[in-house]
Amino acid sequence: MTVRDIFDAMSYGPSPESPAEALAWIERHSAVFGPWIDGAFAKPGQTFATENPATGTLLARVTQGTEADVDAAVRSASRAQAGWARRSGHERARVLYALARLVQKHARLLAVLETLDNGKPIRESSDVDVPLVARHFYYHAGLAQILEAENPGMEPVGVGAAVIPWNFPLLMLAWKVAPALAAGCAVVLKPAEQTPLTALLFAELSREAGLPPGVLNVVTGDGATGAALAAHPGVAKVAFTGSTEVGRRIRETTAGSGKGLTLELGGKSPFLVFDDADLDSAVEGLVDGIFFNQGQVCCAGSRLLVQESIADRFHDRLRRRMERLRVGDPMDKCTDVGAIVDRIQLERIRGLVASAEGETFVAGAAPEGCFCAPTLITGLSASSPLMHEEIFGPVLVSTTFRTPAEAVEIANNSRYGLAATLWTENVNLALGIAPKLKAGVVWVNATNLFDAAAGFGGLRESGFGREGGREGFAEWLKPAAKPLKLRTVAAMAEPKRPGIEGIDRTAKLFIGGKQQRPDGGGSRAVWSSRGRLLGHAPQGNRKDIRNAVEAARAAKGWAATSAHNRAQVLYYIAENLSARAAELAGRLRDLTGEAGEAEVEAAIRRLFDCAARADKIEGRVKPVPLEGLVVALNEPVGTIGILCPDEAPLLGFVSLVGSAIAMGNTVVALPSEPFPLAATDFAQVLETSDLPAGVVNIVTGSHAELAAPLAGHMDLDAVWCFSGGAGRLAEVERGSAANLKRVWSGRGLTESWAAADTRAFLTAAVEVKTVWLPAGE
Ligand code: NAI
Repeated sequence: MTVRDIFDAMSYGPSPESPAEALAWIERHSAVFGPWIDGAFAKPGQTFATENPATGTLLARVTQGTEADVDAAVRSASRAQAGWARRSGHERARVLYALARLVQKHARLLAVLETLDNGKPIRESSDVDVPLVARHFYYHAGLAQILEAENPGMEPVGVGAAVIPWNFPLLMLAWKVAPALAAGCAVVLKPAEQTPLTALLFAELSREAGLPPGVLNVVTGDGATGAALAAHPGVAKVAFTGSTEVGRRIRETTAGSGKGLTLELGGKSPFLVFDDADLDSAVEGLVDGIFFNQGQVCCAGSRLLVQESIADRFHDRLRRRMERLRVGDPMDKCTDVGAIVDRIQLERIRGLVASAEGETFVAGAAPEGCFCAPTLITGLSASSPLMHEEIFGPVLVSTTFRTPAEAVEIANNSRYGLAATLWTENVNLALGIAPKLKAGVVWVNATNLFDAAAGFGGLRESGFGREGGREGFAEWLKPAAKPLKLRTVAAMAEPKRPGIEGIDRTAKLFIGGKQQRPDGGGSRAVWSSRGRLLGHAPQGNRKDIRNAVEAARAAKGWAATSAHNRAQVLYYIAENLSARAAELAGRLRDLTGEAGEAEVEAAIRRLFDCAARADKIEGRVKPVPLEGLVVALNEPVGTIGILCPDEAPLLGFVSLVGSAIAMGNTVVALPSEPFPLAATDFAQVLETSDLPAGVVNIVTGSHAELAAPLAGHMDLDAVWCFSGGAGRLAEVERGSAANLKRVWSGRGLTESWAAADTRAFLTAAVEVKTVWLPAGE
């Protein structure tokens, strides 16, 4: 070969990374590992093999963690918990800094071990995964350092269970372990069965960093080990990343346990290319979006939506670029696309590709073994199954759109909502589209950007909760003050000799801005504490719930109303309530037998507070190491079903509904079951307060009957459950698994309905969307 040939071909020679150090570490442990419990490796139990997917060779055997192992690990964590939490933030920060430094010191060993175990290109594990892991520990060391100053009155939630997948083994560890340790929580981690090794190495490093025994435990094993860990009664919070199916199962099994839960699940994230985009950059972005980590990325830009006028040109350039991707040995620094994690995953990808309608383009041939060549499937319609199903491999599906409005519609036509990318040179278009996309993360003219300071997490069936940033850290903290106690109160019983005076008034449901009769026509007599008939409350049924949700959905324009306008409506509601204060106070006295003035006054204050804060729950600009802007926007959760508390029939209703609508949500509220007439009177206040029809809908009736249709409704984004005690909450949480809606039952609220901080209500009413806007040419 001549020099000229070399210049013409510009091909890369092999540049293999050495596995020696990583293999030596495995050998030092005789290639067999027990779980890491109480600061040391326990004796291995029954073991299974972990292999190098690129070669099929055995790397080591690890223990299939049993229930007893899980129990030992959780006990160890519980013992360590109090001491770790008692340390000052500064003391914890020092250990986290030490961990960050050790990750940097052993960066090469960690990267090589990760690549051997997972099959991802060494270039990615050394340049992306490991540096981000170190960054996570540095960032959270900082959060630990300033914890007392920035989070007064907060304490750690308790022992955390972290169950993580195989696609970013060490990075997912960092996303969970770093904030937990910073907050003062001890953790039991269950790595994926395919990729357990870097977690075990990290555990060993944690001892060197001075982490006390028991603060971090690692129990290896498969799904059964994960299930035992999530179900363990000693666990206060479960943080899971993985498939939507398993996330749903964990939601069901933890229902009613009182455990905190964050789920980071699957996705089918859209990648929008508008006709004015810089096409070469967009192609590069897309290659990173879908072929990074062999496409085994929850937020992979796996669904290309390209404007029709440029579609052919764009697909051509993309195909040409795909042909130049190097698929092969992950340990070669020149490799772009490494091995698929295992045979099962490879077969799954192949099966899905074989089912494709449209036209399939495969770039080159993959080497023998667990490899998959980059694939593009074009000509799909928006309704094709592959436009919706997560493939989790280097397979891109594509369709076209004509207008920005259509692009948004297709992008949002998904049960997922993790990430979205949009490519355009028009800054106004970008800033107009980003808020409309149903996704927890939006990248503009960039993709796959991550940082510890920026929250990450999804909407819809991509899960809930955030990791990273202050919002992710908050998931590991709770108020030290006593939580708001919810009491169950019985309705006033029908007296033996009912006192019926005057005309009988039957209240109505309030749906779509109108007073409406219930579908079933039934109603329940409501008695005063002195045995007087106060009126009848309608008994809503499933159909009424459906109608109310439909009305609430139709009022989605409320989310786009400015916070200033929402505040004005809330002030107006407060004023109108004020005008009827004496009447409402009398009603409360009749219903509950207790003086109502203070409750009405507290409700008016709450409305003022919601109005005052409607335009002050500000987003943030995140200081990430990147030129440009990364903004965290507080967006409404969507349509919320609210089971109001029995007690405080006016204040409870107003606190929950007022804060939800202040943040732009629409609501289906079930008022206090024993005392429903306070809310039906309040509906008249709403009617005269310029509130658009459908923003608040009120369905009275039996919470026991209506909780299930509410929790299972596929068009509700959240349920707030404040009635019926632990049994009702368990039922609602189980039912919510259907579409993974968020359930809130007052976490963060303290003291009493009157004293609880309005900010805690408003925080529950928003979800953070992170928008990345890199700068420069
Ligand atoms: P998976 O969800 O089964 O595994 C993730 C983790 O959960 C592993 O540690 C596993 O041992 C554990 N696990 C499994 N069953 C469990 C249970 N019942 N209770 C508690 N923990 C349990 O994911 P899998 O089977 O590895 O991949 C299947 C598909 O899931 C992929 O093809 C992909 O579509 C999706 N996936 C999504 C990920 C993401 O980052 N969002 C990551 C991994 C997979």
